[in-house]
Amino acid sequence: MAPSNLRSRANVTANNQHDSPKSSTEKPSSASKLTADEDEGPSRLFVVDILRVLAGLILLSITLSYFITGNSITWGYRPAFTRPARIKAWLRGPLNLTDAQLSLYNGTDPNLPILLAVNGTIYDVSAAPHYYGPGGMYGFFSGRDATRAFVTGCFDTDLNGDLRGVEEMFMSEDLSSGAEFTREEKRERKLRKERERRLAKKQVEETVRGWERMFDGGKDGKYFKVGKVWRGEGSGWEGWGEVKELCEKARAGRPGRTAEEVA
Ligand code: HEM
Ligand SMILES: *[C@@H]1O[C@H](CO)[C@@H](O)[C@H](O)[C@H]1NC(C)=O
Ligand SMILES: *[C@@H]1O[C@H](CO)[C@@H](O)[C@H](O)[C@H]1NC(C)=O
Ligand SMILES: *[C@@H]1O[C@H](CO)[C@@H](O)[C@H](O)[C@H]1NC(C)=O
Repeated sequence: MAPSNLRSRANVTANNQHDSPKSSTEKPSSASKLTADEDEGPSRLFVVDILRVLAGLILLSITLSYFITGNSITWGYRPAFTRPARIKAWLRGPLNLTDAQLSLYNGTDPNLPILLAVNGTIYDVSAAPHYYGPGGMYGFFSGRDATRAFVTGCFDTDLNGDLRGVEEMFMSEDLSSGAEFTREEKRERKLRKERERRLAKKQVEETVRGWERMFDGGKDGKYFKVGKVWRGEGSGWEGWGEVKELCEKARAGRPGRTAEEVA
């Protein structure tokens, strides 16, 4: 505190000396300027002092932490944004890979990070090679966008990003095909089916959102977003062909429809 008081007093004296030779007509405005300086001068210095003290404390903490822990400047605490892989990715900027380019990042090349994509967004999952590396429990997710499998759980047939028709796994099976219905009944069934599909699509979105949340900083920030899959023309995206059948496992999990609903 002492230095700031000294400095502000020095300012006032300097101002007074500067003012004194001036004509008396100028005096009132100079005087008011002086009082204004007195109002904000000390408070500005006060803020500077606080910042200086804080900087000193941080420096002290960094120094002590470094000497006591031997290697960490943050007492062993490593927030996500201080991790080298993140900083590297941040400096490099967002990735823009085609599905084919993404396939190189499946963990086989030890010089490349392990990446996977969920609905076109690429995440770095290098932090968990035991899940996503070669031979890992979920290694088949790496190097591709396997969003469909993230929803259906069919890890053999559905390792792709095609979500068309996948909502049917959340829709009841139509057990009454071939039955005769009046026109009124048909209309009603159609409306019900449309409503069901809307709700089912919401469920698919929620499931996908859940995985996106996990890979984008969930799970203690182990994983993080690194870019997008490029799916412009000529990237292979269009070659998906016809809408696929729901896989066995997803079909088996479809909700049934009560006899009353079917009737
Ligand atoms: C749609 C179906 C499923 C998908 C998409 C899926 C996906 C995943 C993924 C991506 C992980 C890694 C999590 C991480 O990175 O920390 C995981 C972990 C795990 N999954 Fe699954 N899984 C599914 C179903 C199942 C089922 C049915 C079982 C049980 C038989 C199971 C057992 C496990 C276990 C034990 C772990 C390790 C959990 C941990 O250590 O945190 N999963 N799953
Ligand atoms: C991504 O890369 C493709 C070429 O592979 C390029 O045509 C496209 O403009 C890029 N997109 C962005 C957002 O950088
Ligand atoms: C990863 O991709 C490379 C190149 O496409 C391939 O040779 C390798 O077998 C793949 N590894 C795994 C574990 O899928
Ligand atoms: C997938 O991403 C597209 C945009 O690229 C978006 O329109 C769509 O709603 C997403 N689907 C899900 C299920 O999140």
